[in-house]
Amino acid sequence: MSSVIKSVSIIGAGLMGAGIAQSIAAAPALIAKGVAVTLVDVGEDRLANGKKIISSSLARVAKKKFDGDKAQADAFVADTLARITFSTDAGLAAAHSDLVVEAIVENLDAKQKLFRDLDTRAPKTTIFASNTSSLPISEIAKSTLSRRDRFAGLHFFNPVPQMKLVEIVRTQELSDTAYASLKDLVVGMGKVGVECKDTPGFIVNRLLVPYMLEAIRMVERGEASKEDVDIAMKLGAGYPMGPFELADYVGLDTTKFITEGWFASGKGLQGKELVSPPASLGKLVEEGKFGRKNGEGFYKY
Ligand code: 3HC
Repeated sequence: MSSVIKSVSIIGAGLMGAGIAQSIAAAPALIAKGVAVTLVDVGEDRLANGKKIISSSLARVAKKKFDGDKAQADAFVADTLARITFSTDAGLAAAHSDLVVEAIVENLDAKQKLFRDLDTRAPKTTIFASNTSSLPISEIAKSTLSRRDRFAGLHFFNPVPQMKLVEIVRTQELSDTAYASLKDLVVGMGKVGVECKDTPGFIVNRLLVPYMLEAIRMVERGEASKEDVDIAMKLGAGYPMGPFELADYVGLDTTKFITEGWFASGKGLQGKELVSPPASLGKLVEEGKFGRKNGEGFYKY
């Protein structure tokens, strides 16, 4: 049994939050059901940035969808954007939502504070979800008083409009009804949900992060060049990006942050050395080279 999610608030209008809002607003099955979506951030400048991310992603989708017909493409972009409400009031948005998805900064205190506040504003039935990639869902959920059975992880992948997977993270307390509601929403978005336990990195990052780190160590040991490692994994393993291209795409600061957090805590990990932070990753981040987003990481853009 599931209860139908008819209104969703996304908190955080960065790349992930904007992508999630867009994917809901553009999904034909959810449009048919009249699912409402609100994108929330703390200031108008951040909302404007979120809107910009959505517009350019939609334009990319529209260009192909309408085969260069500019009028149709422009209408698609405008109609989809018009289905998203933009707001700076998270409490008000939560008060009218069946689901709140958090996609703010990857910091436990900040996430707990947000959910502690929203717990007092949202109806008892509202489901809370975090898009965290590295923090334990059960730790974030501790900030709510009586919502542990309606608190889950909903982990999307970058670029959200293009990536089909969503990890639905189940804590021990999550109810079957809340899980089924989340799964229905994910299917409505045209994506595929997989069930994950609340373990470090869930499924994808648990495998992807040690893989990227070992690629970095391999180059540090002088066993291959980064260019050859990238070519090898694309042509030899069919990956769309090599590990260095992917690390630059995800962000070296993000990758380092995830790695250091897991390494320091060691909680839930067997083989802590798999996530030991490589020196060259730390050096690039120290130099302010975060990857694609600011023009240089392992490669220059
Ligand atoms: N919005 C909408 N569509 C987009 C997009 C965006 N931001 N970015 C790419 N696309 C679409 C393109 O329009 C194109 O669509 P088409 O197939 O209909 O033509 C398709 O994606 C392919 O794009 P391109 O032709 O421009 O380029 P590529 O073929 O190189 O694909 C890519 C780009 C989809 C990013 C691909 O390289 C890829 O899948 N890379 C791996 C991405 C990945 O592994 N992401 C997960 C990272 S881990 C993560 O997010 C977890 C976090 O917790 C750290």
